[in-house]
Amino acid sequence: MGNDKIKWGILGPGKIAGKFAFGLTHVKDAELYAIGSRSLSRATDFAKEWKAKKAYGSYKEMLQDEEINVVYIATPHVFHFEHTLLCLKHKKAVLCEKPFAMNKEQVEQMIATARQEKVFLMEAMWTQFLPHFRFVIDLLKSEKFGRIKNLKADFGFSASFNEKSRLFDKKLGGGSLLDIGIYPVFMALSALGKPEKITAKATIGTTSIDEDCDIVFHYSNGVKAELGSSVIKNTPTTAVIELENANILINSRFHEPTTVVITSENGVETKEFGVASNGYNFEAEHVQEMLKKGRIESDQMTFKKSLNLISLLDEIRKEIELEY
Ligand SMILES: NC(=O)c1ccc[n+]([C@@H]2O[C@H](COP(=O)([O-])OP(=O)(O)OC[C@H]3O[C@@H](n4cnc5c(N)ncnc54)[C@H](OP(=O)(O)O)[C@@H]3O)[C@@H](O)[C@H]2O)c1
Repeated sequence: MGNDKIKWGILGPGKIAGKFAFGLTHVKDAELYAIGSRSLSRATDFAKEWKAKKAYGSYKEMLQDEEINVVYIATPHVFHFEHTLLCLKHKKAVLCEKPFAMNKEQVEQMIATARQEKVFLMEAMWTQFLPHFRFVIDLLKSEKFGRIKNLKADFGFSASFNEKSRLFDKKLGGGSLLDIGIYPVFMALSALGKPEKITAKATIGTTSIDEDCDIVFHYSNGVKAELGSSVIKNTPTTAVIELENANILINSRFHEPTTVVITSENGVETKEFGVASNGYNFEAEHVQEMLKKGRIESDQMTFKKSLNLISLLDEIRKEIELEY
């Protein structure tokens, strides 16, 4: 790829695609080149707003464009599997929104296809690449303040109810767990690894999706991660980690750029990370670095990590008896 700009295509120009497009304006050597939508007018409007050269009225048409190096998939969860395979088969590298797919079998097939086609694939779990999150994970791993005794993380907001919306429509993969519960689960997985046992309960709403979900990960030595998500109530959306010799608070909203407070015998220290963008630039920068190295797998958001994450979501869904 030399020193040329990396040309991005966006597949599914909805809400998050706009935020990602803004993030991309902060990435060196990145060009938002093409937009693919089910509607040419939506693609054209989005391309105009974000100064992309090309607009296509179908995803397949966009994928015929030989100039595109990598595609960011931003469609609802239920389409991630199909759209990832479509991109990989067109030899386009893929950064696909979370959740990577609807279940572990789909993720396994996506990974197998990336390997077969020798094309890069990564789940867009942007939190993994945010400076405050990396700082916290490194601090935990260092055991500077001892081991973790307890972890609490939640993500909840009161969404206005619309049975046809992505959040509430089961056909679009609606529900709190897959949309936002994935972040507390990711926090626990990153800090503590896979639990020995999971207990969970959910409120299943009128559209048969989990409107909220309370989860406990049980680890050896009595360590617990208490996690929660909701699309019907506002919750603190923080992460609190109790260590042997300190407490760490990741302020709201803990999954996006924010500050970290460490309380220990040394006093109270607040860490700022000076992120100038909306934070989506970090995952995009990483993808570009991986592409320049000719890799098909991220060395940070690895296939194994995505498989562990989706396995946990599958297990929680089993506990709350939620099937799609
Ligand atoms: N990383 C993050 O911070 C973050 C934040 C929010 C959402 N997300 C993830 O991003 C994905 C999209 O979320 P969003 O909030 O951006 O959704 P959205 O606003 O509804 O946009 C999704 C886009 O997908 C396309 N699409 C294709 N088939 C569709 C269908 N049958 N119904 C609706 N849209 C369809 C549409 O674009 P065209 O019709 O124009 O092709 C639509 O604009 C979700 O998987 C979500 O988990 C991630």
